[in-house]
Amino acid sequence: MAKIAVIPGDGVGPEVVSVAVRAIEAVARARSLAFELVHFDYGADRYLRDGVTLPPGQIEDFRDHYDAILFGAVGDARVPDNRHAREILLALRFQLDLYVNFRPVQLLDERFCPLKGKGPSDVDLVVFRENTEGLYADVGGIFKKGTPDEIAVNEDVNSRKGVERIIRAAFDWAVAHGKKRVCMSDKSNALRFAHDLWQRAFREIAADYPQIEPRHLYIDALAMKLLETPEAFDVVVTCNLFGDILTDLGAALCGGLGLAASANLNPKAPRCRGLFEPVHGSAPDNAGKGLANPLAAVLSAALLLDNLGHAAEGAILERAVRAAVAASVLTRDVGGDRSTAEVGDYVVAEVERLARG
Ligand code: NAD
Ligand code: IPM
Ligand code: MN
Repeated sequence: MAKIAVIPGDGVGPEVVSVAVRAIEAVARARSLAFELVHFDYGADRYLRDGVTLPPGQIEDFRDHYDAILFGAVGDARVPDNRHAREILLALRFQLDLYVNFRPVQLLDERFCPLKGKGPSDVDLVVFRENTEGLYADVGGIFKKGTPDEIAVNEDVNSRKGVERIIRAAFDWAVAHGKKRVCMSDKSNALRFAHDLWQRAFREIAADYPQIEPRHLYIDALAMKLLETPEAFDVVVTCNLFGDILTDLGAALCGGLGLAASANLNPKAPRCRGLFEPVHGSAPDNAGKGLANPLAAVLSAALLLDNLGHAAEGAILERAVRAAVAASVLTRDVGGDRSTAEVGDYVVAEVERLARG
């Protein structure tokens, strides 16, 4: 029996995750799949109540006894230093060694794209974001804090192993999915140590995949070209910070954060394969108003099912999302007038119908 940890988190997290959970439960019921979903209340409320972000032993418990984590979002103005986000989300990514942050940029309908004349066949790529190091490594410090002489440093940590494995993951995925192009993006013209490593590793690894056309673009040029010619990209691989920024840009090409899904993966993990979450955050401006778009969370649940070996069931969730789009049963952020719950009800009913058929 697959065991899934559910961490709704803060803000709109619980609203969108409850829809994703209902979608998973609906498909599991219809297909007689045994899933055990266990809910955890980690997030700002819990942290402010008892000081716990993740209790000792929790990460090991997820690693050894769970197959996946379904995650909402963390972020709350009452925790201004974002400590709980670091100790929950980033800690899970790092300590479960979820080195692949897989973020599809896939346009579901032409009307969502802000670019003139671009349709679903033009905006269809995936970003492989390095997820365990780079500027997120939390290496650094503040010297002479609060004085006029203060110095703040965050080191950009890039290991040969870390860079190689994310680049290889991008090439392997391209081959497995019949894609022809992998673009690596860095800033090696300015960051001449850290990103020189990316350059060398990319060239070496690309040579092992002669069927794939390798390309390199500096991150500034890529940001421009993604807007001009998104159709020129199949797979983009980049470092942690650039991947973070690029995937909000990618989300905007597809109708916004309400539709952007992600999977944090360790393809080599013995049990816990990954953490699945929408790209968006806790969207405090929308929280508790029924305005949050639950589709990114449902698409993330589809990635979860797919990665647990239930590709057909994952595809059902994706088709249910596409049905909501086709029927314009949508929240306001993507031009609809329905509430989170109304979209959720539609998607869950569609999952039930598709799973029976
Ligand atoms: P955000 O992604 O929460 O919101 C950005 C904009 O997109 C807002 O206008 C928001 O209303 C909108 N939006 C986001 N998700 C939406 C949805 N499902 N439906 C409709 N609209 C949606 O980013 P932010 O405002 O920069 O950050 C808010 C908090 O979330 C911060 O504390 C930040 O650190 C945190 N954050 C967490 C994650 C995560 O947990 N993975 C990701 C990003 C930001
Ligand atoms: C994301 C988020 C996180 C990140 C934040 C909340 C630390 O923006 O998942 O994209 O930067 O990775
Ligand atoms: Mn982000």
